[in-house]
Amino acid sequence: MSGLFITMEGGDGAGKSTQIENIKKYYEARGYECICTREPGGTPVGEMLRNVLLDAANTDMDDVTEMMIFAASRSQHVRELIKPALAEGKIVICDRFKDSSVAYQGVGRGLGDIVEMVNDVAVEGLVPDITFWMDLDPETGRARVEKNGEPDRMESEKLDFHSRVYEGYRGLQEKYPERIKRIDATKSIEEIKEDIYAELDKLTDR
Ligand code: TYD
Repeated sequence: MSGLFITMEGGDGAGKSTQIENIKKYYEARGYECICTREPGGTPVGEMLRNVLLDAANTDMDDVTEMMIFAASRSQHVRELIKPALAEGKIVICDRFKDSSVAYQGVGRGLGDIVEMVNDVAVEGLVPDITFWMDLDPETGRARVEKNGEPDRMESEKLDFHSRVYEGYRGLQEKYPERIKRIDATKSIEEIKEDIYAELDKLTDR
């Protein structure tokens, strides 16, 4: 039996981690084994690449270099962890995946279609069964991030970058409405959980 691949997307500060825990609880209560993982990272090689990507000292990183390192982390993740876990029938819940690269590098950095091409090599045909987009306006997201101490290299980007990323997600959701479910991230944690559980119920019935 093949498992389920669930991804969480959204701008910084949208509250993804809390809801990842809730999704895990949903499936564990039903007897499934879950793996929670993240990008960039998720494997030893990927975590090293993550440090390079997020280190605020790397101010001179080129945009294409950045896109390729995110894709390299993803390629390792897909082959070493995600695909084998799915083949064993596990539920894999991933904090960010290819949609992040399309929104941040494709639209945010303005690299366009090459992001899709490079990432298609990285993901080897793997598409999430369902993706939750935590929809939060960039100003509010930023205010939440600022309360959490030192920003990383991506968080330090100006508001107009984050506004483009937001538009990137909006475009993705319009393009793939069946897969990408918009979640109103201004609601309370409990309400968001209920919205997500309703979608998971539908997915199980499918
Ligand atoms: P992280 O600390 O995981 O942020 P968050 O808690 O918001 O998920 O850092 C990941 C950062 O990297 C985040 O700002 C989004 C960015 N990112 C990309 O630009 N492209 C990508 O492909 C991925 C996976 C993340």
